[in-house]
This record gives sequence, structure tokens and C-alpha cells, in this order.
Amino acid sequence: MEHSNRSMQPVPILCLSVLLFVATQQQFAIADAKIILRTFHVGNLTISRLCQSTVITAVNGKLPGPTIDVHEGDTLLVHVINESPYDLTIHWHGIFQKLSAWADGPNMITQCPIQSGGSYVYRFNVMGQEGTLWWHAHVSYLRATVHGPLIIRPREAYPFPKPDKEVTIILGEWWKDNVVDVDTQALLTGGVPNISDAFTINGKPGDQYECSKDMYRLTVYSGKTYLLRIINAALDHQLFFKVAGHSFTVVAIDATYTNPYTTDVIVTAPGQTVDALMIADASPSLYYMSARAYASSKGAYNNSTATAILQYNYNTSLSSSSQPLKPKASMPAATDTDTAHRFYTGPTSLVRPGNPTTVPLEVSTRMFVAFGLGLATCQPQQLLCNQTRGALAASMNNVSFQFPTSISLLEAHYRGANGVYTTDFPNKPAVLYDFTSNKIGMAPFTEKATKVKRLRYNETVELVLQNTAILGTESHPIHLHGFNFFVLAQDFGNYEESKARAMYNLVDPQVRNTVAVPAGGWAVIRFVANNPGVWIMHCHLDMHLPMGLATVFEVEDGPTSDAILPPPPSDFPIC
Ligand code: C2O
Repeated sequence: MEHSNRSMQPVPILCLSVLLFVATQQQFAIADAKIILRTFHVGNLTISRLCQSTVITAVNGKLPGPTIDVHEGDTLLVHVINESPYDLTIHWHGIFQKLSAWADGPNMITQCPIQSGGSYVYRFNVMGQEGTLWWHAHVSYLRATVHGPLIIRPREAYPFPKPDKEVTIILGEWWKDNVVDVDTQALLTGGVPNISDAFTINGKPGDQYECSKDMYRLTVYSGKTYLLRIINAALDHQLFFKVAGHSFTVVAIDATYTNPYTTDVIVTAPGQTVDALMIADASPSLYYMSARAYASSKGAYNNSTATAILQYNYNTSLSSSSQPLKPKASMPAATDTDTAHRFYTGPTSLVRPGNPTTVPLEVSTRMFVAFGLGLATCQPQQLLCNQTRGALAASMNNVSFQFPTSISLLEAHYRGANGVYTTDFPNKPAVLYDFTSNKIGMAPFTEKATKVKRLRYNETVELVLQNTAILGTESHPIHLHGFNFFVLAQDFGNYEESKARAMYNLVDPQVRNTVAVPAGGWAVIRFVANNPGVWIMHCHLDMHLPMGLATVFEVEDGPTSDAILPPPPSDFPIC
């Protein structure tokens, strides 16, 4: 990791707002819960990777950024000071943000960006969830270098044997070029962004790349158990992850506990996390850790492999003479959908005595969302767009989400501002067709609009997420802000109600914040809209977000005082 001399310090200036915040949050007080203050200085960092020195945007001079480590029930205040040249926001991926939608962070959805030179204090409670989450920039491509772990420890013991040590493994994606320029270029042309140059493990590409001998190294001791907290912080690639010679027992996904699930390969889509126990039970040597793409589409992808080293603590003269096992030999092929699907559908939720996972059985709103890539008329700002072909545009139910530009949706919702969005996001596609056949000749054209789906407080919503094949099939990781959801069933092909219902797991389904919907397939998810505010649901492949692969749920206030969105904080950024 790169370090600067800036550490995270409490900021005295915050005291008044802390007191005010704490005063308004008293109803949530838990014995020995803490208020945790962190400062994020976001600024330029010069870093050398792949034979060149590059200026990136980073937090506190580190890549990956600082780890935030809290206990369930704590209150977190993160003072973000934007010393970078870009306007930006930070999102706390997977955090419920119960009654604190103002701190969620997606650009122009819950806030205007923190302008270059500005600052904002994200204030929220971390309640009712534990495990591995992460934070990242939620604007342009800045998430590539502005991200870090957010670890929530239980107030009591883990529901699995206590590990001897915990280790965070952040998988990332690296461009030699400035990532904002990469994103801007794609927007101007209406095409796809340039493919990344490397994947990284804890910020480093590893020895399969040019000028990249400096690898992340993890030292282990024979017989000890390690809890690996694995985070996919890549932008546009799902990833396979393996440690040669070792296997894993998955104990949590997306910060929800699972029944123990044994595997020798972990698969994550961007946004997802996996907590896995690994016993150092191989013969003492050096072993490669490797990450490479799971590429579900026919499009171009990054076919390289990131590596790191697992080393047993023993005589170092021996370790310097031993060569690690070859990494690629044991990795699944990039197109190995069977392995990916087996992992994605394998783990089930841990139902604990006194804390059962309760799937709501009554559904108040059912939606069928067909989504994928298509084309739209070039927008005026897409200056290099091919007018005959049009621009790549992604859509949900044929609405390609358009981000507002002058006021965030949450502020527009709170103030009742007119003309910013409409509430007619359709419950189903206008026409039903053979979604997973690309021979059907569906016109790929979609309309840009800012349409939201309004929900009453506490409604139970069931969504069928159906991938389309109009411009080819691909597994899209669909992420919902503000809520976890139950994944009741998923499969390839077109959703068929009776077949799907027969597959529903209503007992111990996975609980996630991001589901990788099978390529050319579907998933059914269910959630309870118990959090007033405005919540984006989008593809976590970063290239698909500006193309419009998103929609928004507007959840109304509830009837009681603990179900009403409080006003925005006084330092809330304005556009
Ligand atoms: Cu991890 Cu909307 O994002």
C-alpha cells in the first residue's frame, strides 16, 4: 500500500454537528456503541505501475484507500475533504442508510457532488448488519482508485469458529490512462470505454505484468485459520479468485452470514464481497493468489491475471529460492459460466436461532424488469458520436436512465420540486418478447428519461430481473442501494412464472445487495421498502451506469416518527 504522512484524525470542528447528529439519533442508542470520526483527504497521488508513473485520485494518499473498521451499532462520521481536481461523492456500498439517505452518496441521486475544494460530512448509523462492505467514489470512473474496505464487526461472537487472523483482499482494476478521461471519451463517442490494463490484488498487479515485480504478500503460519474478506472493487469485470493449494469455506456474502460453503474458487461480481475461512494446511512453500476475469459476454475483456503471494513463515533463504506455483494453470477459463453459476447459486443464508432470516411471504408490488444494452439517439453532449448508428444506451423496461443535472433526486423528492423526474417507471416491459434470443430482431432503440418507481413505506416488492439479448447476452451485477434483498431463484433463459416459483427458496435464500443475474437469464429478488428516501438500483459494471442501466425507487415516508426522512444536514452539497 502507498502511504502518505496524512493519517485519519478526529476533527474538532465537527463537534457541534456531531452533537446535533447524535441528539437526533438518540432513539437508536445502543449500550457501548461508539461515534467514530474519520477524515478522508481526497487528492492527487503519484504512483508507479506497469512501467509508468501515473497521477491518480486517492484517499489519504493510499491505494486501496483506508479501511474503516466499526462495530455494529456504531455511528460513523466521515469528513470528506475534496482536494482533488474532480467533483465527487463517496458511497458506502451495502450500508442501509436507515433514515440517512442524505449520506448514501450516488452522484445526482442522493446528492450533488462535493465540489473540488469543498467538503461534506457523511453521517450515518451502522445498524443491523455485519461483515465486509466497502466504500467507493460514485461518480465517473473515480471508483477505480477511490475505494476501500468498510468492515462491520459483530458486537458478540462470529457465528463460525474464530479465525486466528483477518485479512482483507481487495480486487481492483487498473488503467494506465487517467480514468476520468477514459470515461469521458466513452461518453463523447457513445461507445465502450477502453479496457483496463491490469487487475490488482490490494492495489498491486503482480508479476504477470511488465515492470510489476512488487506484489502483495501474505505471510501465514501452518495450521492457522485466516478470514479472508474479499471485495470486488473492479469496475467492469467479474472475477475468479483462487489461492493455489488451498480451499475456502465461505461464511458470508455481501455482509450477510451464510451456511458454511466449501469451494476452491471464489467468484465475485463488481460490488460483491465474500468472507471465507482459509486454513494454512498446505506444505510450507510459496503459493500464488490469482484473480482473473469471468467474462460472460462476447465482447472484449481484460484477459490478464493479477497475482499475489501467500508465503508460509519459515526459513527465508528457502523462500527466496522457491518459485511459486504457476497461477494460470489452476484458474477457470474466462468463459467458465458453469463454475461462476455454481458459486453464485451455491451458498445459502445462515438462519440463526433467535435471528431467523424471514422472507416476507406477502408481496404488495410485483415488477418485471427486462434490462440490457441497446442504442439511443446521440445526445447533444456526445460530440464524437456516430449519428447514423447512435450511442450505446442501456435500459430497464426500455427506459434508459438519465441522471438529473441541476438538483439531486433526493432533494427534489424532499422539496417536492417539479420537473426533475416522473413517477411512471413501468412495472413491466411494454411488449413481451423472447428476451434471450438475439435473433428476435427487436429494435434496440431506447429512450432517455428520469423515471422512478414510487413505493409506499414498508411495501414488499418482488422483482423479476430479466437479462435481454438485444445486443448480446451478459451477466449484469444488479445492485440496490438502501436495502438488502432475498434472491429467491435464478436461472438461464426466459423467466417462466410456474417454473420459477417451483424453484423459490423461501427458507434460507441468499441475502445480498448485488446479484449477478445470469447471462441470458433471470433472477427473482424480494425486498421490504422500509427506508424512506430515493434509492438507485443499477448495474455495478461501471461502464453501464452512464449508459443508463439503472432505475430509482422513491420510498415515501411512513406513518410514525421513526419512518420519516429527516431534513438534509446543513453542509449538504448544492449543485
Ligand atoms: Cu457500489 Cu451504486 O454502488
